[in-house]
Amino acid sequence: MPAHDRELDVALFGATGFTGQLVAGYLAEHAPPELRWAIAGRDLPKLQALRQILTQVAPSARDVPIMRADVNDVGSLSELAARTRLVASTVGPFTEYGGPLVAACADRGTDYVDITGEPEFVDRMWLEHHQRAQQTGARLVHCCGFESVPSDLGAWWTLQHLPTDVSIEMRAYVQAQG
Ligand SMILES: NC(=O)c1ccc[n+]([C@@H]2O[C@H](COP(=O)([O-])OP(=O)(O)OC[C@H]3O[C@@H](n4cnc5c(N)ncnc54)[C@H](OP(=O)(O)O)[C@@H]3O)[C@@H](O)[C@H]2O)c1
Repeated sequence: MPAHDRELDVALFGATGFTGQLVAGYLAEHAPPELRWAIAGRDLPKLQALRQILTQVAPSARDVPIMRADVNDVGSLSELAARTRLVASTVGPFTEYGGPLVAACADRGTDYVDITGEPEFVDRMWLEHHQRAQQTGARLVHCCGFESVPSDLGAWWTLQHLPTDVSIEMRAYVQAQG
């Protein structure tokens, strides 16, 4: 089925994890009403408990669909990828767990984003799945987490203010409390 005809816009895989719960809470609070999103993971009772918590953030979260998918069950990943336009994954370490979902998304023509900061994983996914993704139209976008986005945007912003005819080396620093 073409990606634009699918039943969901976004499936959040790994919704029960620490980062996944933050993303789910953000979606419950801020997603536009027309966005069709679902929470996905391997543990149904945990997903049901999470949905219950999300209703405290936004009562409409009671209608958020739950999808079961496990990294060790490639059929479940294929079904997950087939039902949505995009999968956002917070299931890591990605080198260990991430490959089968990227394969399923590349195969099904499903867009994919993750929060990996593991360069070896990104390289391997490009080697193994980029060609297939080009055939199906899937856009595979890694490194959408805090570890990557501020430095990427910072580098992009900085380059707007520097000469273009010299070679530039850049370092990024982050100061945080917590
Ligand atoms: N780049 C960045 O800025 C950034 C920021 C934060 C995190 N991360 C990375 O993101 C990943 C997640 O971090 P976290 O702290 O949220 O970890 P976490 O709390 O341990 O969450 C891991 C998630 O993966 C799920 N999972 C594990 N094995 C699975 C399987 N076989 N099938 C399906 N789901 C499975 C867990 O499900 P259950 O709940 O059922 O156990 C849980 O939802 C880590 O690799 C971390 O390094 C990166």
